Amino acid sequence: MKPFSEPAAVGQWSAEAIGGAARPGRSCPIDYFYGAASLARPATLEVESLWVAGGLYGNRYALERLLELYAAEPGVKALVFNGDFHWFDADPAEFGYINRTVLEHGATRGNVETELAQPGAQAGCGCGYPEWVGDAEVARSNRILERLRAASQTMSGELALLRELPMTLVAEVAGVRVAVVHGDADSLAGWGFSQERLATTEGLRAARRAVRVAQVRVLASSHSCLPVLQRVDRDALIANNGAAGMPNFRAGNCGLATRIASSPRAGALYGARAGGLFVDAVSLDYDQTAWRERFLELWPEGSDAHRSYYARITQGPAYDRDRACRTV
Ligand SMILES: [Fe+2]
Repeated sequence: MKPFSEPAAVGQWSAEAIGGAARPGRSCPIDYFYGAASLARPATLEVESLWVAGGLYGNRYALERLLELYAAEPGVKALVFNGDFHWFDADPAEFGYINRTVLEHGATRGNVETELAQPGAQAGCGCGYPEWVGDAEVARSNRILERLRAASQTMSGELALLRELPMTLVAEVAGVRVAVVHGDADSLAGWGFSQERLATTEGLRAARRAVRVAQVRVLASSHSCLPVLQRVDRDALIANNGAAGMPNFRAGNCGLATRIASSPRAGALYGARAGGLFVDAVSLDYDQTAWRERFLELWPEGSDAHRSYYARITQGPAYDRDRACRTV
């Protein structure tokens, strides 16, 4: 997951990110790769509305707010947590609560769950960080994962459930094909659907190719920690959820969920249409005060997570909503 800081520049994919020499937090285990063609398979879920919540990051208050909103959704529906639902919950009781509650719904593995359940040699946090994320931030991310692993190590049953989760999911929403991934169309920890990559001509072209290969109208992702709703074709969207469990915009204080449905969402932060579907960003206005207090108990000042994320948790990232919605 990407920390608070803005990239100085958008670099190219590093050799490590696609399986070169291992560097913890930079490189990806080879079994993270599935390829966009694997998404061109029959759907295993048929619903009228699909909620996708990526990047919960162990925030129980965001989880509870999400479940309240989702409970009010009518019709045939599903909620899928598309990875990294653990991160700040480095406490056995907290970890168990998040795990049990999330797994009452649909879920796919993120790199965090994968590195907890089946650690890759020298994968570190498994984030596959690109060059625009600094080495110090990557090192802190690796140490956060180590602490989370220590907190969860006695829960073999919970970890076994994580190990069995799929990396991707294909659904039909009101008869329209939608794929859910954690990173991008090729890899669990790919950054191809990050707002930084989608802002480049090459990145946009690759995303367009991905939706065509996957034969979907919507590709829902997460992982890169900043949201973007990007039109990549006349009738196709990439919907990167950003973070369900952290603020997503400057001076903002809410998490996000992505709702994909045959009807629009009243009060959505922003949205667009593709293939007859409405894709909307739903605000998760969780209890900020309670979450800050809990975060500080788990990650006090001076800790790795505090240094990387507290500014974002309290002030939001240096990113604005109008940059996230790229649908014209
Ligand atoms: Fe991730």
